[in-house]
Amino acid sequence: MKNVIYYFTGTGNSLAIAQKIAAALEDCEVIPVASLKDSQTIAPVADRMGFVCPVYFLGLPLMVAEFAGRLDRSRAGYTFGVVTFGGSGSEPTLRQLDTLIRKQNKRGLDAGYLVKMPGNYILMYDPPSGKKQEEIFAAADNLLGEIIPAIGRCEHHKLPWSLIGALIHAAAYPWFVSHAHRKAREFTVTDACTSCGTCAEICPAKNIDIVEGRPVWKDRCELCLGCIHLCPAQAIQAGKNTTGRPRYRNPEITIADMKAKNQGNP
Ligand SMILES: Cc1cc2nc3c(=O)[nH]c(=O)nc-3n(C[C@H](O)[C@H](O)[C@H](O)COP(=O)(O)O)c2cc1C
Repeated sequence: MKNVIYYFTGTGNSLAIAQKIAAALEDCEVIPVASLKDSQTIAPVADRMGFVCPVYFLGLPLMVAEFAGRLDRSRAGYTFGVVTFGGSGSEPTLRQLDTLIRKQNKRGLDAGYLVKMPGNYILMYDPPSGKKQEEIFAAADNLLGEIIPAIGRCEHHKLPWSLIGALIHAAAYPWFVSHAHRKAREFTVTDACTSCGTCAEICPAKNIDIVEGRPVWKDRCELCLGCIHLCPAQAIQAGKNTTGRPRYRNPEITIADMKAKNQGNP
């Protein structure tokens, strides 16, 4: 069987999960959404097609929502979604993905799964570390032990739903949609910057130019926070929100992986 998985990631959680599913399915292409041109219609030919991405404000990353809206799934078979999240109430994200795909096609998702991973929204909290982080990974691996065989069997499931999640999505997601692209204008860089260029190379939105050795953010930020978390010198800040806070990167994913894959390079 031929398989394809599209993913989006800021700090590696979603890529790590996409890779685990792909390894179990075999003959599986793993494609970063960030590598696809804006104007390109996506019409994969596959027996199974999946999407793996993080939850942002109880909804989809903007790039994933845009991508799902121009997906032609007429030549794809079984279709599943997996969203990674750090807190709770992420059900509306799967519904949103389903609705967007369904708008273009008669069928949406055949199944959708939520996997809790370390939360990376450093603008509000410290990402979990140490034992807490290990427990989250262990629980996620257990859950994947159920999800992956279900995907292998092309099981159909009703998508999860929660009223509270839907209400918070309705209140919070519009703010995200209207603010995310320009949010990085508030990011700054300290003298710890070594001009290594990692921030620009890992940015899935290609939103960072290096000017005179320093990052300059443009207006298509996805708010994935990859630049803040993955800067080797921890030189990127979003004011007091990030100063002194530990950074996070999924330990199974290297910065080299992120550079290559987020930019769509093999
Ligand atoms: C802008 C932003 C918004 C987020 N919003 C939510 C949220 O609404 N609910 C939640 O549970 N986690 C939220 N998170 C946490 C991420 O969904 C979670 O850490 C995810 O696994 C990160 O995946 P990645 O490493 O592939 O980027 C948010 C993270 C970011 C950066």
